[in-house]
Amino acid sequence: MITHCLMMTKTTAQAISISMIFLAFEGLDGSGKSTLMRQLEEHLSEKKISFLKTREPGGTPVGDQLREIILKKSSDAPTARTELLLYEASRAQHVDCVIRPALEQKKWVLCDRFSASSIAFQAGGRQISESQVEWLNDFATGSLEPHLNILLDLTVEESKKRRVNRATQVGVAEDRMESEAELFHQRVRKAFLDQGQKKPKAWLILDASQTPEKLFELLKTELKERQWLA
Ligand code: TYD
Repeated sequence: MITHCLMMTKTTAQAISISMIFLAFEGLDGSGKSTLMRQLEEHLSEKKISFLKTREPGGTPVGDQLREIILKKSSDAPTARTELLLYEASRAQHVDCVIRPALEQKKWVLCDRFSASSIAFQAGGRQISESQVEWLNDFATGSLEPHLNILLDLTVEESKKRRVNRATQVGVAEDRMESEAELFHQRVRKAFLDQGQKKPKAWLILDASQTPEKLFELLKTELKERQWLA
């Protein structure tokens, strides 16, 4: 368990080396991130490529405590600005204690959500100024950005259907973010797509209604084209 860590100096993932790759998986809830990440994990293991799989909010003991506060449904829920700061606090701890050290050890990092989620949910969904969220992202990450954001794009209707199915099958209730109104999720989806359109080189946008096998094939093709995978 990580008990403490040192603040790292400011370097981007790109500046460290290309032998390790930082990938962030993004999308609406229920878009299939976990399945795609699991397929890539198996592939990297077969190829004997060392990697770290992690997630936000969370990924560290401090982050996991913040995650509880953020996602718990309660009458004393954090306000929009507090919520943003909690996500960013979790991210700063995660970058300093887990992500940068893994990249420095030349590992691939597969992260379930990263900064782009704050732009989508807090700027898009909660309508906080995008430039303020960008500033906080930059501060929390020390300017670290994923080499590639993989967006599993899904309609809000399909996302809702999958969430409800999952809740009935596994018996898990929706968390505070999931139970937001449809319009909120529409804004989140749009904010993800807008980010992809603004920086196409940093994004792979996949239509998440395709089969898991097809989605993994598309991801592998992209990683090979970028010469990150043989
Ligand atoms: P989680 O159960 O991990 O959802 P998922 O499996 O879909 O990733 O809950 C994370 C929730 O937090 C999810 O609804 C997205 C939201 N979120 C933000 O609003 N802002 C952020 O910066 C991050 C990282 C997540």
